[in-house]
Amino acid sequence: MCRNNMLGPDGDFITSPEISQIFGELIGVWIISEWMGAGQPKQLQVVELGPGKGSLACDVLRVFSQLQSVVGGASVSLHLVEVSPALSSLQAQNLTGNQNREADTEDEPVYRRGETAAGLPVSWYRRLDDVPAGFSIFLAHEFFDALPIHKFQRTQTGWREVMVDIDPEKTEQLRFVVAPSPTLSSSTLVQAGERRSHVEVCAEGGVIVQQLARRIAEDGGAALIADYGHDGTKTDTFRGFKGHQLHDVLSSPGSADLTADVDFSYLRRMAGGGVACLGPVTQRTFLKNMGIDSRMQVLLRNCGDASTRKQLIGSYDMLTNPAKMGERFHFFSLLQHSRLDRPKKSEGLKLEKKSPAQLPVAGFTELSFS
Ligand SMILES: C[S@@+](CC[C@H](N)C(=O)[O-])C[C@H]1O[C@@H](n2cnc3c(N)ncnc32)[C@H](O)[C@@H]1O
Repeated sequence: MCRNNMLGPDGDFITSPEISQIFGELIGVWIISEWMGAGQPKQLQVVELGPGKGSLACDVLRVFSQLQSVVGGASVSLHLVEVSPALSSLQAQNLTGNQNREADTEDEPVYRRGETAAGLPVSWYRRLDDVPAGFSIFLAHEFFDALPIHKFQRTQTGWREVMVDIDPEKTEQLRFVVAPSPTLSSSTLVQAGERRSHVEVCAEGGVIVQQLARRIAEDGGAALIADYGHDGTKTDTFRGFKGHQLHDVLSSPGSADLTADVDFSYLRRMAGGGVACLGPVTQRTFLKNMGIDSRMQVLLRNCGDASTRKQLIGSYDMLTNPAKMGERFHFFSLLQHSRLDRPKKSEGLKLEKKSPAQLPVAGFTELSFS
């Protein structure tokens, strides 16, 4: 539901990686921490779903090159899942300059390949399924909110799907209509015992989370999902944005970016029991647990320029202020169950040297233990 020119100050909205590089740097640290927590496997695939302009991946890779002494032993590759041809060329430009090449035919699973200045291989896919198997850390920042949703409404005769129709009385205008009888979606996607009267279900997001969970359970790794959303409580969140303003989703179809809050309770349900789920925790909590305050102090200490200092403080405020992005955005993670094994009490005294599984999962307070 995203258009190509929608990101950044001149687009329809601006995302956290575009606001401050600190955001992506802390996510880079999270990836390395999870890789260490898994026992530092020899291969590390960083897989990003919906990379936008590629800013998050750029910031993550900068951390990797700064922490070469830590990750140098691993063979790292970057895998980007992106449906937009225009955004994939922007990502290629930002990550590899001219060091990339499109596939010869359209039906190849890897439709573009490139290499960063540091020699790290980058591949582009249209579907997660096409990314090779192997230990992977998956990132999805403002990805799930961009996927299409189904809308359902409770009626006296049961759940009905809310469909979109052309408004016969106005041009360039759509309208919502309630299906007169059950549809396949209304019969299968609404959870038994649902108490809300309106529900949005992102079935495509559910399938992607199932794929992530299966891959993590089989090949190891973790997924970090960051988005605005709720834990199964909200009802009507489908909305449009155009030029940083709310826009009626039904008017001038195709001209605005459409979005719906992510239902993390649904993602958790779809992940199933094969993996452990952490969160959602607020962006403020996650970033503070990841050390954003100390990072800011270092940056401010080394910055003499008043306008850069102002800009740093402004972006910190935007990312962490509860009234801005701090409490609107949430972090959610899928991990192997073994990753959360805590030391047994009887082993407690022998833990001077922690085994990987005993490293806490960074960013998620519930599991931080010293
Ligand atoms: C809202 S943008 C977020 C961009 C970036 N992650 C950020 O935070 O700046 C959504 C991204 O997901 C991509 N996208 C949307 N639907 C997709 C799908 N079904 N498969 C792969 N990518 C998709 C869009 O093209 C875009 O790159």
